[in-house]
Amino acid sequence: MKSDSNITNKLKTKYESIDQDLEVHLEGLLHSKPISYWDYIQTDVLLNLQKPRTDFPDEMVFIMYHQISELLFKMILSEISQVAENNFEVAEFTEKVMRISRYFDVLTSSFSIMKDGMNIEQYNQFRTTLTPASGFQSAQYRMVEFASTELINLIDKRFRDKVPKDICCNSAFEQLYWQAAGKDYKTGKKTYTLSAFEKRYKTEFISFSKHYENKNLWSKYKLLPKASRENKALIKAMRHYDYTVNVKWVMAHYNTANHYLNIGGKTAEATGGSEWVKYMHPKYQKRIFFPDLWTAEEIKNWGINI
Ligand code: HEM
Repeated sequence: MKSDSNITNKLKTKYESIDQDLEVHLEGLLHSKPISYWDYIQTDVLLNLQKPRTDFPDEMVFIMYHQISELLFKMILSEISQVAENNFEVAEFTEKVMRISRYFDVLTSSFSIMKDGMNIEQYNQFRTTLTPASGFQSAQYRMVEFASTELINLIDKRFRDKVPKDICCNSAFEQLYWQAAGKDYKTGKKTYTLSAFEKRYKTEFISFSKHYENKNLWSKYKLLPKASRENKALIKAMRHYDYTVNVKWVMAHYNTANHYLNIGGKTAEATGGSEWVKYMHPKYQKRIFFPDLWTAEEIKNWGINI
């Protein structure tokens, strides 16, 4: 246990270094309220963030599960940024990828809350009030992708071989795979859902992707020494993350869309207006964050038979 005088001396040094009077700060301690759980966790704010647009009770499930997903995306981004900003050795790198994976494991296994947790009739009524909004407009989901891999791996599969491998930022933007969900490729016309998303986030996305150009997870992995890159635990963790995001989560999402929007073989239009059946299935897009960690056969069968 440290002595009182030791702590007092450290406090003195701390406040002197910023030209502050320790006595005043100590007096502040005397008057300040003790911290409580509800103040620290901000429960009042958190529990007031649900604003349904209808009286259907299941709309609350829909809102809250999206909010939970966004919080987990934020946790993922925080871990990735630590890998980006440090030069971790193999053990720490692996540990971080495992943390990121665990968050996505939770997102994937909990998707049944969406798929099985709402009444189909209620969903199909309250969702009409949400057009033209779509989960497609989740900025953090896009940021997770920008922070996970090089932009070439996020380019629409149809153009991937035709663009330079080191394509970045502004020039990559129009060819990102998700443009397909909001663009008529013959006319180039964008849906309102996509235009509004870009108006709100495009500038941020370009600077974010520039920031991660050489320090996304994939680039950071490639910068590791050869022995680390060949570390079995790290490769396993990287493959697990890639597969969880780009096959398992995507399939859980696709199966949920099918459950609610494909009734009796009739496909309903999604709120974001995409050709979702084709757009959402992983076998068409073959989104893969870490392509060199998969065999040609595995890539060929990506998203098939799952
Ligand atoms: C009943 C539940 C859900 C249904 C029916 C559904 C349906 C869809 C559909 C059809 C799309 C394609 C774009 C469009 O036309 O709107 C989409 C995109 C998207 N949704 Fe959902 N979604 C559901 C829940 C969620 C949840 C809980 C999240 C979590 C944040 C989410 C995140 C996303 C993302 C990130 C995209 C873009 C994915 C991509 O570009 O591949 N969705 N969703």
